[in-house]
Amino acid sequence: MKEGNVIISSESVILRDAKESDLDNYVKWMNEGEWKEFDAPWEKRITDLPEEEIKVRFIELYLSEREEPRRRVIIADKNDVPIGWMNRYNKDKYENTWLVGIDICEDGYLGKGYGTECLRLWMDYLFNNSNKENIGLKTYSFNDRMMRVAEKLGLEQRGIEPDIIEWKGERLDRLFYSMDRVRWNSQKH
Ligand SMILES: CC(C)(COP(=O)(O)OP(=O)(O)OC[C@H]1O[C@@H](n2cnc3c(N)ncnc32)[C@H](O)[C@@H]1OP(=O)(O)O)[C@@H](O)C(=O)NCCC(=O)NCCS
Repeated sequence: MKEGNVIISSESVILRDAKESDLDNYVKWMNEGEWKEFDAPWEKRITDLPEEEIKVRFIELYLSEREEPRRRVIIADKNDVPIGWMNRYNKDKYENTWLVGIDICEDGYLGKGYGTECLRLWMDYLFNNSNKENIGLKTYSFNDRMMRVAEKLGLEQRGIEPDIIEWKGERLDRLFYSMDRVRWNSQKH
């Protein structure tokens, strides 16, 4: 299987298939990084697994499947340094919608515009390679950067589940943002 195939890119960022050489970065990300504090840190997930199982999960998730459109990609900077990942998923109740997720896992790359650029590219890719009418994302009310990125790209806040969890003494809302295909194509981004 061809590795590292570029899915979509711009001047500053590359969204591509994973390579075996990304494995060490992935294991590192599971163990450290600010991202872990912001992506639903109360949920049980791969970061909690022993290293050998993390490696198996990486192979399963990133090297074994190449669906169209892709379920997940590695984010790399313009020099092909891996810095995080993006994914898309689809719960049954949103049959006409892709839900998307993003984590920039290298702390030095946070807050420098990469998230905005990646989400813009990923939305273009998903709309252009499927017939889904909406793209949505979920985040929590403590995640100012994620909310700002969604708003900068014109996603609308369509739902709020108030007071859904308490984390570090703060009551958090879960927010749902969404964009439809017609509006995405008509807005300049
Ligand atoms: C959320 C995330 C993808 C955003 O990507 P990013 O590259 O950091 O964001 P950008 O630099 O593109 O944009 C951040 C925006 O938030 C603003 N911002 C940063 N910190 C902020 C704060 N504390 N309050 C309000 N706005 C803030 C920035 O000013 C910028 O807006 P601007 O361009 O209008 O100035 C990234 O921060 C990340 O991966 N975080 C950790 C994991 C995570 O939260 N994943 C999402 C889970 S839902």
